[in-house]
Amino acid sequence: MKVCVIGTGYVGLTTGTVLADYGHDVYCIDKDQHKLSLLTKGKIPIYEPGLQEMVNHNKVEGRLHFSNDLKQSVNDCSVIVITVGTPPNEDGSPNLTFFQEVINDLSRYITSYKTIIVKSTVPPGTNEWVEQMLLEKGIQPQLFDIVSNPEFLREGSAVHDMLYPDKIVIGIKRPEPIKILQTLYYNVNAPFIITSLTGAELIKYASNAFLATKISFINEIARICDAYQVDIKDISLGLGTDPRIGSLFLNAGLGYGGSCFPKDLQALQHAALKKKIVPEILMAVQQVNDTQIELYFEKLINELTTLNNKKITVWGLAFKPETDDTRFSRSLRLIDKLVSAEANVHAYDPIVQLNNPSIQCHKNIYDSIIGSEALIIATEWSEFKNIDWKKVKNLMKGNLVIDGRNFLEPQALKKFNIKYIGVARP
Ligand code: UDX
Repeated sequence: MKVCVIGTGYVGLTTGTVLADYGHDVYCIDKDQHKLSLLTKGKIPIYEPGLQEMVNHNKVEGRLHFSNDLKQSVNDCSVIVITVGTPPNEDGSPNLTFFQEVINDLSRYITSYKTIIVKSTVPPGTNEWVEQMLLEKGIQPQLFDIVSNPEFLREGSAVHDMLYPDKIVIGIKRPEPIKILQTLYYNVNAPFIITSLTGAELIKYASNAFLATKISFINEIARICDAYQVDIKDISLGLGTDPRIGSLFLNAGLGYGGSCFPKDLQALQHAALKKKIVPEILMAVQQVNDTQIELYFEKLINELTTLNNKKITVWGLAFKPETDDTRFSRSLRLIDKLVSAEANVHAYDPIVQLNNPSIQCHKNIYDSIIGSEALIIATEWSEFKNIDWKKVKNLMKGNLVIDGRNFLEPQALKKFNIKYIGVARP
């Protein structure tokens, strides 16, 4: 199949590359000249395990192309996949500017039948709007089908998730495009979940909202555990063994970040309020997440009395391990608070080097800790686990380690005279 993928962010690039790997002829389109020049040289602009190798392989095989010529690609391809970003506006609603531009462009270029697959995360009702727009712009109804086909890729394991999805959600208005989607995903072993256009949009939002809810739920339980001196890990284990609950997404910590959960939760609240529904659970989920950083910031102040001029080290800057993405990173939020409290902040991340004059980023993990009063682990990179804790303790001025991801073994640190504070780990 000839496939045109519009937008080469992490979703578009992963989608396009994996579709090329299936054997399709894929044209990835972007307006960003800098990104395109990197991609045409075979360099990917993001850190995503396994993606670079797959891009190289499929470029060499001649199945993966990068261009800014949307008109030509729309003309050549029968399948069009939209993967442009929908970042949040100030008020939490998603900004559909890029998305609307694409629809506008498509309305000028479609002259033969196209299956238009929308992967961008868009609010309920948007795909219906797309159809109306194209019809209003004079595109004949027999010249296109809109398919709402949300993605569930996790950064850091996006290639794996695209190769082995647990389902393919398809929102359609009529059954005809199903055959095309079956051909597109011919070698994927996952059930098709078929629903309406708006149903598919809501499955995506509800999934992210539910996962975020699990995280805020366990973080709230962690607060209660903390007060009763109970280890949250025992609770997560006890809950997770019940198949009705499931063991994943029950790790207590500094809360969720990233480009999806915070944005999609807000977008869903917006969509509810638009219909005069008060999303009480969603609001509470966000509230718990927002206050989680404050809680551990308070614990740090309790230990050190003041942060003024004290050297504090933060390990992990990206919103989670195995990515260079710092969008809505809890770590950056915490660093802002530390800087406001006039702490002398030093940081280390295996990939991210921040260009922030208020903090000092180190390339060597041990350099970051020299003379520090406290170390905060904000992301669970495996590098942090295999560290020489004796050396860390000797380099530090103080002995406090706050494990914001419950990633370390408290007992193992105790023998080096390190004071360990986890998230509800007595
Ligand atoms: C998420 C969804 O998982 C994915 O399906 C969707 O397509 C995009 O959003 P992603 O944002 O890449 O993916 O990361 P994810 O692994 O889900 O983690 C999100 C945040 O939750 C991270 O900040 C992570 O640290 C946090 N988290 C996750 C917890 O605090 N506890 C957990 O138990 C799990």
